[in-house]
Amino acid sequence: MQAVNAYAQNALIQVPGLEGLHRMTDILLSERVPENGRVLVLGAGGGMELANLAKAHAHWTFEGVDPSQSMLDAARLATSAHADRICLHHGTISGASSGPFDGATCLLTFHFIPLAERLDTLKALRQRLRSGAPLVLAHMSFAQDDASRDLWMKRHAAFAISNGVDPAQADAGRVAMLERLHLLAPEAEEAMLAQAGFSGISLFFAGFDFRGWVAYAG
Ligand SMILES: C[S@@+](CC[C@H](N)C(=O)[O-])C[C@H]1O[C@@H](n2cnc3c(N)ncnc32)[C@H](O)[C@@H]1O
Repeated sequence: MQAVNAYAQNALIQVPGLEGLHRMTDILLSERVPENGRVLVLGAGGGMELANLAKAHAHWTFEGVDPSQSMLDAARLATSAHADRICLHHGTISGASSGPFDGATCLLTFHFIPLAERLDTLKALRQRLRSGAPLVLAHMSFAQDDASRDLWMKRHAAFAISNGVDPAQADAGRVAMLERLHLLAPEAEEAMLAQAGFSGISLFFAGFDFRGWVAYAG
């Protein structure tokens, strides 16, 4: 994994199993993306998945989209060795080209998207994919009753602390995440994927408060 920037280093200590998640993402995409395939990366900031996938697949080309200029700048730096095959756009899914793409990823991003925009975002991803193309989607998702929200966010903080994060900082992060993130239970995520036109929806990753699915454009 090319963890070359501060964002990537922080992600690795906050997200259980992140290196495995990236390797599984590559395997799941590789099942269906052809040798010269075109891949859409939504929430491409930081560049971790772009750098990993571009390094592993010399003939894939990529479009990365992110509304944060600083995260896009970090992605540009992290992927400079593959710049000729990566097009980065500032914006949300509506700013992505129409494709069609052979596969898409959206990692650690959906919990930042307000619930009211989730279905339209999934539909917009679906519209940009060839029929049968995979979407690999992973972010925070767990039961949303008050007790579960409290417990899983405490576990998230405990994982960060176990990796050396200052406890006060981890607790401040826990409070901020509870206030700011837009979270859904796994069943609601799967129902929304189906509503957006995806099929073959399979959970492939569960690491504490994170879940990952692969689904196919119907
Ligand atoms: C935690 S980072 C994950 C970046 C990268 N996908 C990874 O796994 O390392 C979340 C990213 O989602 C981006 N983001 C927030 N809202 C978004 C939206 N509506 N559409 C696309 N990306 C968004 C943020 O700017 C940020 O770069």
